[in-house]
Amino acid sequence: MSELRQHWESTYQQKSFEQLGWYQTQPQRSIQMIGPKEEAQPLIDVGAGCSYLVDHLLAEGFEDVTLLDLSPTALDQVHHRLGAQRAQVKLIAADLLAQPLEPRYRCWHDRAVLHFLTDPKDQQVYAQQMKGALLKGGRLVIGGFAPQGPEKCSGLPVVRHSIESLQALWGPGFELVQQAQTLHTTPWGKEQLFLFTQWHRKG
Ligand SMILES: C[S@@+](CC[C@H](N)C(=O)[O-])C[C@H]1O[C@@H](n2cnc3c(N)ncnc32)[C@H](O)[C@@H]1O
Repeated sequence: MSELRQHWESTYQQKSFEQLGWYQTQPQRSIQMIGPKEEAQPLIDVGAGCSYLVDHLLAEGFEDVTLLDLSPTALDQVHHRLGAQRAQVKLIAADLLAQPLEPRYRCWHDRAVLHFLTDPKDQQVYAQQMKGALLKGGRLVIGGFAPQGPEKCSGLPVVRHSIESLQALWGPGFELVQQAQTLHTTPWGKEQLFLFTQWHRKG
């Protein structure tokens, strides 16, 4: 098992979701930027962890959602939580930098995953993976620590992306549609500044 996978497996095995810094039950900013299913389905949530985003999407009528995460333990928790609705969700336990992805998504969502890629080569691989999976005309929603946000997450160093650094990573084929800074409060009361952006992949 890779060191990174070990880190995330231990994290989800040792603590309940409610004890983790990124815990939230109402991912409002993500939901708002993803938009209606008519525009955002099929959707892939990369580094989904145990996020409640999928529960909200299913409640809004989404029927084609893929959750990918390095940690099988995190995905197992979602699998059990979803009950009968799990049939509408595809779970992939894999490294998003290495996993072949189907080129069929109209929305790529990432909350607090890209920011762990501190090596520029890994960021390039991430961008290639995203471009391989997201259809032209599709929607890219990225939430990560803002330039003035924390320097670490889950004990790991992060890269705090700006609009400019994200645009440089995707290239000119993506147009910024929305941006918003959002404060997240951890279960222990610490505020973290996130930057959420929504991009349109030009057709
Ligand atoms: C800070 S958590 C955020 C989880 C979720 N997006 C949320 O908002 O609750 C980061 C997640 O990314 C996953 N992750 C980190 N690196 C990954 C990689 N290379 N491939 C797939 N998942 C990864 C971790 O297992 C973890 O669940």
